[in-house]
Amino acid sequence: MYALAKLPYALDALEPYISRETLDYHHSKHHRGYVDKLNDLITGTDLENMSLEAVVRANSPPLGRSNPIFNNAAQAWNHQFYWQCLTPQASVPNGVVSEGLNRQFGSVEGFRQRFTKAALDTFGSGWTWLVSTDDGCLEILSTSNADTPLTQNKIPLLTCDVWEHAYYIDYRNARAEYLQSFWNLVNWDFVAANLQLVSMPLDVA
Ligand code: FE2
Repeated sequence: MYALAKLPYALDALEPYISRETLDYHHSKHHRGYVDKLNDLITGTDLENMSLEAVVRANSPPLGRSNPIFNNAAQAWNHQFYWQCLTPQASVPNGVVSEGLNRQFGSVEGFRQRFTKAALDTFGSGWTWLVSTDDGCLEILSTSNADTPLTQNKIPLLTCDVWEHAYYIDYRNARAEYLQSFWNLVNWDFVAANLQLVSMPLDVA
């Protein structure tokens, strides 16, 4: 059985950018819903002893098809990752992260603008990601619904949840205002830690 990942901060810690009410609904209703449905679907199957990431990878449906196990497992994983991308403590990209962003997007501000545009252009529900390819290139990626870079051989570094449930209570339909707030909450230390994992030689572990 998969447990609902705990939030790494208090429910009101992200105010005024994300309210306690939003965080409470998002975590204890939406995220919990995916975890509970996943547990219902896999109990008694050979998937129940696999890691969440392995369940996501093993159940990725062919293009245009839907798989409830994938949908719920991927949403459980995506949310777990998203919570860690946010922090109430202001942070800035460290040297390695800002060098990577400068190299790929011209500047940190250039990255921020392109990521924001990708998030605003995502039609319907989905996620916007900063990912690394396995050869170390940084990319901005938009995924629909539950889709996740885990199934595309890309390593997630940062994500923003652009499902309406992430912002509708606080911002109604104004996704742009939510995005503006998102940049005040990004946990750049988490991004740096993810980037370090990408560059770590496999034989070090
Ligand atoms: Fe969400």
